[in-house]
Amino acid sequence: MINAQDFSRFKKQPLVMATAYDFCFAQIMESAGVDVILVGDSLANVVLGLPSTRDVDMDILSLFVGAVVRGAPNTHIMADFPYGADRSPEMAVANGLRFLKLGAHSVKLEGPKVDCIKAMTRAGIPVIGHLGLLPQTAKSFKQVGHEDAERKELIENALALVDAGVIGMVLEHLDYSLAAEVTAKVPVPTIGIGAGPKVDGQVLVLHDFLKMRLGKLPPFVKAFSDVYSEALKGAEEYCKAVRTRSFP
Ligand code: KIV
Repeated sequence: MINAQDFSRFKKQPLVMATAYDFCFAQIMESAGVDVILVGDSLANVVLGLPSTRDVDMDILSLFVGAVVRGAPNTHIMADFPYGADRSPEMAVANGLRFLKLGAHSVKLEGPKVDCIKAMTRAGIPVIGHLGLLPQTAKSFKQVGHEDAERKELIENALALVDAGVIGMVLEHLDYSLAAEVTAKVPVPTIGIGAGPKVDGQVLVLHDFLKMRLGKLPPFVKAFSDVYSEALKGAEEYCKAVRTRSFP
């Protein structure tokens, strides 16, 4: 089990993070040996079929955090703040403690919300930052970090997150050279998704890297399995077996 204090080791060795949202896939991720399971607000899209990650709240996230904690009792569970969970430092602390009480070990939040992070850290909540593409508020899903001003601001924000006390940070869909620069500048591990190879760890969404859904995958994803096709084959065989009375 990776504790919050152990995160610094991932400046030297690659950190493997994957999302999971339910008991069964949490068991699979734990058996596979991932270092950290993220219960992401991406569950809005990939599990609930909702258009935006803004469509889930603390009650919904909490239900899924509980399921993942039960499925992976020996793995570090990172719970993702849904949109609006960190409207004030007081709210961020209350919601962070709610996730820890459910068994999560750290909490991730999007954007440079330094006051919330400081308050959470003071309250003993291990916090992971998230910079680059921020799906809760993004106007476009294009890669981030091509303009000079944007690059400068991102580096300043990364350093501000470190000052505020984060134990690590996710860098999403970021220009690869900028992700490498941030990784070299911060003392905490960076965890990339679509941020290239020069970061300290990688995270992918379960439904993408196991190809569990129809539709185009994001350009930076590699499918390591084809669960959709395998499951479809099994379901079709079941239909056929019942209809031809070969089962039971
Ligand atoms: O919700 C999520 O799955 C995430 C990852 C994209 C990092 O935040």
